[in-house]
Amino acid sequence: MARFRPINVTVAGFFLLQTIFLILIYSRHTVLPDTETKTEKVHLLILSSWRSGSSFIGQIFSQHPDVFYLMEPAWHVWMSMFQNNAKVLHMAVRDLIRSVFLCDMSVFDAYIPNKKNVSELFQWAVSRALCSYPACSHFDREAITNETVCKIICKHNPFSKIEESCNTYSHIVLKEVRFFDLKVLYPLLTDPSLNLKIIHLVRDPRAVAKSREQAMKYLTRDNGIVLNTNGTKIDDIRYDVMREICQSHAQMYETAMDKAPSFLKGRYMLVRYEDVVRDPLREINQMYEFANLKLTAKLKNWFYNITHGVGPGTKKEEFQTTSRNAVNVSQAWRKDLSFQKIQKIQTICKSEMNLLGYQFIDSEKERKDMSMDFVLPKRNYQFSWLPNKEKK
Ligand SMILES: *[C@@H]1O[C@H](CO)[C@@H](O)[C@H](O)[C@H]1NC(C)=O
Ligand SMILES: *[C@@H]1O[C@H](CO)[C@@H](O)[C@H](O)[C@H]1NC(C)=O
Ligand SMILES: *[C@@H]1O[C@H](CO)[C@@H](O)[C@H](O)[C@H]1NC(C)=O
Ligand SMILES: *[C@@H]1O[C@H](CO)[C@@H](O)[C@H](O)[C@H]1NC(C)=O
Ligand SMILES: *[C@@H]1O[C@H](CO)[C@@H](O)[C@H](O)[C@H]1NC(C)=O
Repeated sequence: MARFRPINVTVAGFFLLQTIFLILIYSRHTVLPDTETKTEKVHLLILSSWRSGSSFIGQIFSQHPDVFYLMEPAWHVWMSMFQNNAKVLHMAVRDLIRSVFLCDMSVFDAYIPNKKNVSELFQWAVSRALCSYPACSHFDREAITNETVCKIICKHNPFSKIEESCNTYSHIVLKEVRFFDLKVLYPLLTDPSLNLKIIHLVRDPRAVAKSREQAMKYLTRDNGIVLNTNGTKIDDIRYDVMREICQSHAQMYETAMDKAPSFLKGRYMLVRYEDVVRDPLREINQMYEFANLKLTAKLKNWFYNITHGVGPGTKKEEFQTTSRNAVNVSQAWRKDLSFQKIQKIQTICKSEMNLLGYQFIDSEKERKDMSMDFVLPKRNYQFSWLPNKEKK
């Protein structure tokens, strides 16, 4: 008996080693591809301007259970350094969004000293992620959250929960209106630690101008930063800010379409707000596909509700799915803007309008004729640069 023991031990040891070896090889082959797909996060930037429907598009993403969303995190940069101009602040804004995409919220140290509670972050309560686990226990992660309720219940949660929450998501989505040049984002597009995609959201400048008039007093500080007034708040009576906005959108679109470097391919998508108003589900589907997000039944139901005025807190007037009515709704600005103002904006924003399919109104008669549509249909237009679509 004793004679065989060493052999048995050797044989057993051999088999044990072989088993471990096989398990190792087997697990390498089966586990590796899995972990590779799991670490592929998506960092999506909704690049837009003031009063262009970006809060609504932001919500479309924020309410998805795979998305960690923040609205305008770079607001803090602008408010802390309001005596500078937009171009000087570009780099600080870019650095901030890079850190936020990587869930490193220590970047806010510079702008919110002694930060304690989640409520110190600008517009935190519009983020579903900050109203649900692990940031706040009130809402279910799969639930559609309510900003008003979240604001009351979740406001005292510690600021550190923002980072903790961010780390649990596969998709980080940020909305910003503070970029005026696509080139500023190039280093982020080539950054190996990021998987950046850009949705460039535009809206008819005449509709933007009308909406900016209604929100005038909220925009004076930002106007001063755009126009480099050294901190003086200013109204945009002469449409100088509108000029900057229109020029930058035209330039960004042109850069993406005609002068795009290869690393932009499959990472840029243009969305016109009017197309979202006219066919929300089609546009949402395309944006989700671009962002690698799956449309759940619950979200589909919620989109139906908010675009049909069903359920509490929804605005029926903004969305109408019968196409004729949607056209009227998306051109409501024509009733409120004088022909003189329309002409002025059309002159200032000529190249953006030409590029993006917004047609000129040439007379007072045309302004009043609501049977005429001045937004060219999407299908006649080359818009999105989706994955797999090669440029000719
Ligand atoms: C932060 O939350 C604590 C309670 O956790 C509260 O006492 C304090 O007033 C809050 N601070 C701010 C700035 O909201
Ligand atoms: C900007 O404003 C500050 C005070 O508000 C002043 O000290 C500074 O000289 C101004 N800079 C310029 C370039 O006017
Ligand atoms: C949509 O509205 C209906 C009717 O008000 C409501 O029962 C349903 O819960 C809503 N769905 C979502 C996802 O909000
Ligand atoms: C959110 O909750 C408030 C208070 O309960 C309610 O008045 C409001 O209509 C809700 N909003 C939405 C969009 O459900
Ligand atoms: C849209 O505008 C046209 C022209 O004013 C009008 O005839 C039509 O009734 C409007 N449609 C709706 C649904 O409001």
